[in-house]
Amino acid sequence: MRVLLVNGSSRKKGCTSTALYEVERALQEEEIETEQLFIGNEVLPDCIACRKCKETGSCIFHDVVNAFVEKAKSADGFVFGSPVYFAHPSGRLLTFMDRAFYSGGGAFAFKPAAAVLSARRAGTTASFDVINKYFTICSMPVVSSTYWNHVYGQQPQEVQMDKEGLMTMYNIGKNMAWMLKCIDLGKRHGLHHPENQKILTNFMR
Ligand SMILES: Cc1cc2nc3c(=O)[nH]c(=O)nc-3n(C[C@H](O)[C@H](O)[C@H](O)COP(=O)(O)O)c2cc1C
Repeated sequence: MRVLLVNGSSRKKGCTSTALYEVERALQEEEIETEQLFIGNEVLPDCIACRKCKETGSCIFHDVVNAFVEKAKSADGFVFGSPVYFAHPSGRLLTFMDRAFYSGGGAFAFKPAAAVLSARRAGTTASFDVINKYFTICSMPVVSSTYWNHVYGQQPQEVQMDKEGLMTMYNIGKNMAWMLKCIDLGKRHGLHHPENQKILTNFMR
């Protein structure tokens, strides 16, 4: 079983990455394979709503998003991490997730996911809410922890001092491993996910 952890910060080795490593540590203890992906700090085009992905199955911009969706197809779980910027997740991560989920939603359905936030001081729970909404529109079981999923700090060393934040990260990893093993056991006993109905009414019919 394999979990992809996405670092939605512009800093590869910053606070978000520090938090994600703690989730990884717990997952690895449970013998779950992990991979932390940095989405980079180059310019990332936003979704232009061309809907070409509905015909081709991938975004017209061939960058980290398409590469991620390809990896996501064979992954079993996801953690999306972000710094808090003005009380929301980074614009970079939202661009990334808009395009990944719009073009490749099927790669995520029925796979457990967790959101992780890092902030100097405030805005984590509002940001947590934003990321969780990608999961719950995509039939993804949301992995919880023992507090809302955030750490505090402006530098990685400060995050290392946030013992409760790190414990929350560690517990996400343990809870996700448990959920993945339950899903796997269910599958091996013939219990598969439901086929969801999909009717779009656009509020007109
Ligand atoms: C543009 C910008 C906006 C920020 N806004 C907030 C904020 O609203 N609340 C907060 O607590 N920290 C804010 N911060 C601080 C970061 O969220 C915090 O330092 C975070 O841990 C950085 O994570 P990183 O090292 O992974 O990038 C902001 C930082 C930047 C660069």
